[in-house]
Amino acid sequence: MSNVKFEHLFAPLQVGPMLVPNRICETTNTINSSMVPGEIDDNFREHHAAKARGGTGWIGSETWLLNLPFPPETPDEVGLAVGFAAHFATYQSPAFIEGWTKFCDEVHEAGAVAIAQLTHLSAVWSPSPVPVIGAQDFTPHILGDEEIEFCLNTYADAATVAKDAGADGVEIHCAHETLAYSFLSPVTNKRTDQWGGGPRERIRFVVEVLERVRKRIGNELALGIRISGKEFREGGYDNLEMREMLYYIGETGLLDFADIDVGHCWGAPSYVPSSYYGHAEFREVGKAARADLDPKIAVLFTGRINDPVIAEELIKDGYCDLVGMVRAGIADPEFANKAREGRLMEIRRCISCTRCIDEASEPMTFPYAPTCSINPVVGHELRWKEQYQPVDEPKRVVVVGGGLAGCEAARVAAMRGHQVTLLDQGKRLGGQLLIAAKAPGRDDFEDQVYFEENEMERLGVDVRLETSVDIDAIKALSAEAVVVATGSIPRVPNDVSGIDLPHVVQGWDVMQGKASTGDRVAVISQEDYYETPCVAEFLAEREKQVEVFHKSTHLGSEIARYSVAMVLSRMERCGVIVHPNLVLTQVQADGLEFVSSFGGHTYRKEGFDSVVLVYGSVPQHDLYDQLKAEGSIPQVYVAGSAWLPRFMAEATQHGASIGLVI
Ligand SMILES: Cc1cc2nc3c(=O)[nH]c(=O)nc-3n(C[C@H](O)[C@H](O)[C@H](O)COP(=O)(O)O)c2cc1C
Repeated sequence: MSNVKFEHLFAPLQVGPMLVPNRICETTNTINSSMVPGEIDDNFREHHAAKARGGTGWIGSETWLLNLPFPPETPDEVGLAVGFAAHFATYQSPAFIEGWTKFCDEVHEAGAVAIAQLTHLSAVWSPSPVPVIGAQDFTPHILGDEEIEFCLNTYADAATVAKDAGADGVEIHCAHETLAYSFLSPVTNKRTDQWGGGPRERIRFVVEVLERVRKRIGNELALGIRISGKEFREGGYDNLEMREMLYYIGETGLLDFADIDVGHCWGAPSYVPSSYYGHAEFREVGKAARADLDPKIAVLFTGRINDPVIAEELIKDGYCDLVGMVRAGIADPEFANKAREGRLMEIRRCISCTRCIDEASEPMTFPYAPTCSINPVVGHELRWKEQYQPVDEPKRVVVVGGGLAGCEAARVAAMRGHQVTLLDQGKRLGGQLLIAAKAPGRDDFEDQVYFEENEMERLGVDVRLETSVDIDAIKALSAEAVVVATGSIPRVPNDVSGIDLPHVVQGWDVMQGKASTGDRVAVISQEDYYETPCVAEFLAEREKQVEVFHKSTHLGSEIARYSVAMVLSRMERCGVIVHPNLVLTQVQADGLEFVSSFGGHTYRKEGFDSVVLVYGSVPQHDLYDQLKAEGSIPQVYVAGSAWLPRFMAEATQHGASIGLVI
């Protein structure tokens, strides 16, 4: 039991007419949990209401996209430009309203409040002909008066629906790359009519929205805005100008709360900050907002707060009145209750790997399901509800391999009542996670190792480390079920001559201090996610001169738009030179031969002390094959990378799924 007292975090707060039971907020996160596009289905309700039941006081769930439906003459692009529009709520559909009403009831039953976020999110039109998203290559259509009028009214119409459906508050989304943001920003609003000008003029669109919404919801619902605390954009508004705009908006008397965050949906920082950022790194914007605002207007600050201890401090030290903790609740929907009950060791802290937002914006799974790298229940809530059952007859279960898949298989099997032994040849649990955590900016990944270690102890799993395992060892444990989670080993390309020269080493070995590199290092990559930039940065941090030769069009081509800018900017900052579109064909003592990925051109590069390979990995399932062939153990499973090396989320899912069915 922890001694930390959360006196501030669990104090209720009156926000306008709404009593928020504590200060922990799930700000809106469109993780696309509904499996019926545009509706609020059981998956949605189970995903978000679980957080309310887990003690989160404010449930922002998913945004209401107002783009759809538009007048018939509007081009399709306005609705579709957000890419995943079909999954966002379409607030005029009766099924959506019915689903939302049911959802609000569930949130209220759990003692929390439900907030509806109203959003116009389409970068194809804007106040001025300036790309809304920095990385876009087209000029948006300039909004005419009728179109502005149409948009203003949709906020009011949607707010009426939210009120009727039982929401406690309405939030107008004025941050990120929304339409309201593009009116607030001096970069995207160059208008010289009544909608543009200085800070006092650029707020006009937002004030107009608030007035129309307030007319519909009266004083029965809380009303607020989400606003970026400062723009990290050439010519964008800073913290001072945000304060000024917020002050003017607050002066109207229309605001009950201001929800402040920082970042863009494309660029660094992203508004879903990865582990490369400090915890609550941009907290100053919360304090800045509070400086001028009427104290009756509650300030909510969000951004990489994964720990209730940090959240408590932010409130105590005056950075904000309410704390946004979105991914904290994705990783562990019960974290708030655990904190209140002093069970801090049981909290599975978000490691800020950004898989959730990456998946939501550029799906990696098919068919799509929301995912979390460390919480296997996300996206499978209904299945867990049905399948997660204590066992009638506990079995002796042996899990071989203590990486994510093995740990999750052991944890879930033990939670269900099995008697579990977990064997690993390493000194510590964690497997590949321990390697990843050595990369700069990835130390939070180790939190998941602590979580698994604590859970094994709490659940009475018999963990045996530095143990090598064969069939006899498993039989000696009288195993009735075995999970082989023996992971993978780095891939060595078999079509490259000279690959066995002594100066060729593996990225994993370098990260673990098992191989040295000299000062001039060529990293050769056929891996498109985080591993290559992590290895390169690890070396650069040790003052090596690093050049990456990469098969794809750019490094990290599988990292989604929210996160990739940060990764690439870190490469620049630490001086890593990246050569795309090259495949290694030959290693010689004094040089490397490449062929272009897309043409037939060959290239030669010289001047490296070592060659570091990042080619992904190959599964290790010999033990599984042997156990299956031997046939004496009734249940034998293969899990995680031993089945197929993929990402953390897949390993977690696979291991936990096996734990569910043993
Ligand atoms: C999957 C996902 C979807 C999100 N969608 C929205 C959204 O629709 N509207 C919004 O204002 N913020 C959205 N956010 C941002 C969150 O509200 C929050 O500001 C962000 O996750 C940082 O908080 P955290 O560090 O506590 O996760 C989203 C975040 C995630 C992870």
